[in-house]
Amino acid sequence: MTTPQTVTMTIPMTDWRSRFGFHTAPFTREIPVAQRFPLPFFDEVLTALFRTVDQRNSAALIAPSGTGKTALLRALVDLLPETRYRVHYVKVTDLSRRDLCREIAAVCGAQPAGSYPVLVRRLQECFLATMTDDAVRPVLLLDEAHDLRPNVFGLIRILTNFEMDARLVLSVILAGQTPLREMLRHPANENVARRLSHVATLRPLSRPESHRYIGHRCTIAGATTIPFDPGSLEAVYEVACGNLRATDQLAAKALEVASDNGAAIVDASHIAQARRLIPGS
Ligand SMILES: Nc1ncnc2c1ncn2[C@@H]1O[C@H](COP(=O)(O)OP(=O)(O)O)[C@@H](O)[C@H]1O
Ligand SMILES: [Mg+2]
Repeated sequence: MTTPQTVTMTIPMTDWRSRFGFHTAPFTREIPVAQRFPLPFFDEVLTALFRTVDQRNSAALIAPSGTGKTALLRALVDLLPETRYRVHYVKVTDLSRRDLCREIAAVCGAQPAGSYPVLVRRLQECFLATMTDDAVRPVLLLDEAHDLRPNVFGLIRILTNFEMDARLVLSVILAGQTPLREMLRHPANENVARRLSHVATLRPLSRPESHRYIGHRCTIAGATTIPFDPGSLEAVYEVACGNLRATDQLAAKALEVASDNGAAIVDASHIAQARRLIPGS
């Protein structure tokens, strides 16, 4: 009988954050609204969505994954004073009409039970009460709206129709990836599309914006000098093409790689190594 051997492994515990002068991890998803990367086109979209809600209308925000839709919704929530608006956020998943109603009811504090017509009535009552009893305007943010099933679109039309359209009560913001545009163009969804008073979009960052974005994310994480050389900034843009999420993933991984290699600054070779470590990149 052989005695089991104890295998010991040495893991290099270099703290790459302090190596590059960060006081927190850069390129994470949890970016405070106040520290967002400021860009005029983000602000224009934000203003348009704010105006839509202010006019008690509904809108769509349609852009590819990773371009900043959810972050922009968070900025919108931040812009809407709690004294005037009650915002409900629902991340749509592939649900039936009834289950989506239950999901919305749960976030709105309504009882998430009953048949589809009962739930619809309960939701409408809840939104109306928000308006009349609490004197605040209900806003429903439906994120990942490209996942809405075809027969669920009608729910949006029903939820925004109060007293045979005599009253504007609920504002809905549909945020979703590009297939949402085609879904809204479908003749069956014409009634829903007509209820949207604005359709906004976001684009990937340009090359110089991408360079500045990386600098911004490093600065807000505490770095006094940007630990990416010009070649690495170019290399990130070549791979991520200005997509925020792809830029974040690649830049974060490249910092780890550079640190493991004992480098003081990220260069293009670290980006190439990092790319190989990120699935699908
Ligand atoms: N204005 C911004 N400033 C800084 N980082 C941002 C900004 N907008 C988005 N991000 C970051 O980019 C990543 C992708 O954004 P996200 O809103 O999740 O995209 P989407 O919802 O379009 O898939 C997130 O990690 C987020 O923190
Ligand atoms: Mg999102």
